[in-house]
Amino acid sequence: MIIQICVGSACHLNGSQEIAELFQKAVGEYHLEHEITLAGSFCIGKCNRVGVTVQVDEEIYTGVTKEEFKEFFAEHVLKKIERN
Ligand code: FES
Repeated sequence: MIIQICVGSACHLNGSQEIAELFQKAVGEYHLEHEITLAGSFCIGKCNRVGVTVQVDEEIYTGVTKEEFKEFFAEHVLKKIERN
């Protein structure tokens, strides 16, 4: 699975650095280093007023915030990995 965190200017201002760190931490906690590749991306063209744009494989999600990160990770990353 490839997770791309947008580091374009809008997402940067909405905390993409923090979101990237949360992803790194979660990948370590769940020992998913061999399953997940984390990367940064330029603006995906889906800038949102709040939160950060994250692409999980082909799926693009906008408005990812640190407050809702745990739910996001469980729903869109862990569940998907379990299914494969
Ligand atoms: S800056 Fe992230 S989608 Fe545009």
